[in-house]
Amino acid sequence: MNGCFISGLCFGCVSDNFSAKSTSEVANNSASNALGYIAHFRGATALVTGGAGFIGSNIVDALLAAGARVRVLDDLSTGDRRNLGGAAKIDASKQSGAELIVGSVSDAAAVHRAVTGCSHVFHLAAMVGIAQSVHEPDKHYNSNILGTEIVLRECSTAKVSSVVFASSSAVYGLAPNIPSRESDPVVAASPYAAGKAQGETFIETYARANNTHAASLRLFNVFGPRQSATGAYAAAIAAFIAAAKLRQPASLFGTGEQTRDFVPVANVVQAFLRAADPLHNLRGERFNIGLGHATPLRQLLDMIADISEIKIPPRLLPPRDADSPHSCADISSAISTLNFDPHVSMLEGLRQTWQSLV
Ligand SMILES: NC(=O)c1ccc[n+]([C@@H]2O[C@H](COP(=O)([O-])OP(=O)(O)OC[C@H]3O[C@@H](n4cnc5c(N)ncnc54)[C@H](O)[C@@H]3O)[C@@H](O)[C@H]2O)c1
Repeated sequence: MNGCFISGLCFGCVSDNFSAKSTSEVANNSASNALGYIAHFRGATALVTGGAGFIGSNIVDALLAAGARVRVLDDLSTGDRRNLGGAAKIDASKQSGAELIVGSVSDAAAVHRAVTGCSHVFHLAAMVGIAQSVHEPDKHYNSNILGTEIVLRECSTAKVSSVVFASSSAVYGLAPNIPSRESDPVVAASPYAAGKAQGETFIETYARANNTHAASLRLFNVFGPRQSATGAYAAAIAAFIAAAKLRQPASLFGTGEQTRDFVPVANVVQAFLRAADPLHNLRGERFNIGLGHATPLRQLLDMIADISEIKIPPRLLPPRDADSPHSCADISSAISTLNFDPHVSMLEGLRQTWQSLV
């Protein structure tokens, strides 16, 4: 584990120094790893479901930069087609952009069209709000459970060789072990968490039944450019940065002492690309993806205030239902099995996010 632990809790080592590696070490390591995990995408055709969303569109950019042909299946319920313009900016001479199919993963015909001819599928399309999954269970079922089942059925027909599924730390429940390990029990405290746990089981069944490569990534609190700062389910960092930008108080639920394992999206994209490599020969294994450090929300507010040079007063609100006090990933399995190298620090990720908005 690369974190500092006090009384079993990992508290945020919240400076750029918390990465033990020097910049040159990271650069060399990343460069030597780069060819290995990116090279096999050259000329491949990949589908990203939910690819017009926050994480999905960042994966799309990376795949296009690696030389893949990329398709996106997205119903644009929370995604935005403008998120798919970014790839062209990476290298205008090489990128032709992703093909967007507007449709739902619960529509078998749309999924069939999207999957046919693909060797790699990244399945991220989902209703993402925990509270929304409670209030709209039918919609949740169609998107997150039926949708995943249909995606995998069509992957099987199309003989897709690699599937990676976006699961969630929500599967550890409201009082998780700190840090959480993949071997910890699944405690599905919401329809959303139950759907992610079910999706992981579908993935494992798919991999074993088809004797093919597939994995689930249990994402902790992902943040970065393109994350939505609006709506009832906006993630903390996006909402805090939006408050700083508008010079308004930021809503803090409960005491603000809650801790979260916030992970920059660049690291998460790397994890998806590494997990997709059929050389790992996975059969539905689950991997935690975080930084392996937890940051208290109040401290996060201070970090954003430092970066933005804008004082952000907290607006204290009552604690939310179904909010766990602490969350932190043990990422040792992703490091040892996938060679996951989360080299973008919390502070660097915050700087990139802030700069993307100003
Ligand atoms: N952001 C996080 O911190 C986090 C943490 C854990 C897990 N995840 C998972 O990662 C994935 C991506 O999340 P995100 O943060 O990028 O959210 P997002 O809302 O930006 O992306 C979700 C995308 O899926 C699309 N979508 C929703 N339902 C669909 C359907 N039925 N058919 C087709 N497209 C559909 C949306 O339009 C959107 O583009 C989700 O599966 C989410 O559960 C995210």
